[in-house]
Amino acid sequence: MTLLDGKLLSENIKAEIAADVEHLRERGGKIPHLAAVLVGENAASQVYVNSKIKSCEQVGFKSTLIRRDADISENELLDIVQGLNNDPDVDGFIVQLPLPKHINEEKITLAIDHRKDVDGFHPINFGRMAQGLPAFLPATPYGIVETLRRYNIETAGKHCVVVGRSNIVGTPISILLSRKGYPGDCTVTLTHSRTKDLPGEVRRADIVVAAIGIPEFIKGDWVKEGAVVIDVGINRIPDATKKSGTRLVGDVDFEEVAPKCSHITPVPGGVGLMTVTALLLNTLKACRKEIYP
Ligand code: GUN
Repeated sequence: MTLLDGKLLSENIKAEIAADVEHLRERGGKIPHLAAVLVGENAASQVYVNSKIKSCEQVGFKSTLIRRDADISENELLDIVQGLNNDPDVDGFIVQLPLPKHINEEKITLAIDHRKDVDGFHPINFGRMAQGLPAFLPATPYGIVETLRRYNIETAGKHCVVVGRSNIVGTPISILLSRKGYPGDCTVTLTHSRTKDLPGEVRRADIVVAAIGIPEFIKGDWVKEGAVVIDVGINRIPDATKKSGTRLVGDVDFEEVAPKCSHITPVPGGVGLMTVTALLLNTLKACRKEIYP
């Protein structure tokens, strides 16, 4: 069993990005600039956004963090989005989700200029991705395809079972892995809460992508010998043996599943780190105007 080491991959990719930034700097080019908008006090969102900002610093990007209280109005948030759309120094920006209940996430996502939508959440980017046109790919699916690519994992003709149909992960990764070319050319089954015999579907998979958001949901006897398992889950569960009283687990029961796999992503240290790194890759592409010249 080989661990798909998101930490090592992220460090390698970040070193490549840092070298690119250094070249830009030497040539007097524009330094990539990512802005992040964080609304409210959601603990997980704070951790994710801090990690994004810290990663920008590591590779030499400029970054801006805009924090607002949870009682910000939708119009005030739309004004911030417009300001970032119009700011020529900002190459790309994200509005961290979830947003407070009184704010319509769809409206905010639609207000983001798709040319700066480095999260790849805008329907223009999603639609272009689905048609195989140049697009900002959503960060988690992008991190997954980079992981498969950099570990040279064969995908053509493989049966991939995706568990979970979110707009952010399950649906886009199912599209990306079924596209022509590498990593793709998979036969994809997209499963969800209404799927009949989920264990039976997962057992048919050469590649499993678990993105359902339920701790240790996928059990050892659901997984075929030699399968590749990509665990997207980041779930905090109680653990009295830890000082914090909690620990992070994925959507896969690692202890049971890992011995059966050819490859598996650990949690933490797998897909999560690659998600942040994919955001950096998108920001670099935005700065270089690679997607929208
Ligand atoms: N919330 C959970 N994942 C993400 C992400 O990738 N981007 C944003 N903006 N919010 C999220």
